[in-house]
Amino acid sequence: MNHKQAAGEKAAGEVNSGMKVGLGTGSTVYYTILELGRRVKEEGLEIIGVPTSEATDKLARELGIPLGELSELEPLDLTIDGADEVNGTLDLIKGGGGAHFREKMVAAASRRLVIVADESKVVPELGPFRLPVEVVPYGWKSTRKRVEGTGCSAVRRERGGEPVRTDNGNYILDCDFGDITEPGALDGKLKSLLGVVETGLFVGMADSVYVAGPDGVRVLRRGTPA
Ligand code: A5P
Repeated sequence: MNHKQAAGEKAAGEVNSGMKVGLGTGSTVYYTILELGRRVKEEGLEIIGVPTSEATDKLARELGIPLGELSELEPLDLTIDGADEVNGTLDLIKGGGGAHFREKMVAAASRRLVIVADESKVVPELGPFRLPVEVVPYGWKSTRKRVEGTGCSAVRRERGGEPVRTDNGNYILDCDFGDITEPGALDGKLKSLLGVVETGLFVGMADSVYVAGPDGVRVLRRGTPA
């Protein structure tokens, strides 16, 4: 079993019948969703999921996981999601898959946020992974200048020469800040800029992180030394 699968499946154990569950996006939480789908089918697990992306919506439907609207179901009991980086205080960079806006909305409406990751995601300081910032397409070059004015270099995410569009129809700037030592302050600064929709910084949101490595899965909990 690969590490992503180990972390993803183990975290699915946090889900019990009757729960309203936010379903994250990415290649690690993919295994959580597969396991939840199996339990729905084979064990009669009764949950309602809220997907954080079109891709997760499609996957959950294929697996027969009942889905609902965030605004009708909040507060959710739990959201399980992946991350691109996790620091020692469980602050995160997310958005490598471009889904961080919906992921943040769903996480913010959840009583608990559980993250699944492999060891490569755990870092002393956030920042080696370029910070994804979602921006509206109109005037995006002006927005990029404002973003770069906060102390980074930013490139628009492209694939095959075309700009990547989020599920909301927006662009993503991948921003190199070097080490991000004050993620909360940076998040606030970026979100005050005209044209910025949301950043991939998740500060003070994660309650626990399931980290899988060669020795198995360990669980980091907020407020507990690693
Ligand atoms: C999606 O936009 C991201 O926030 C993902 O949750 C994050 O990139 C982790 O994805 P992987 O589990 O595929 O690394």
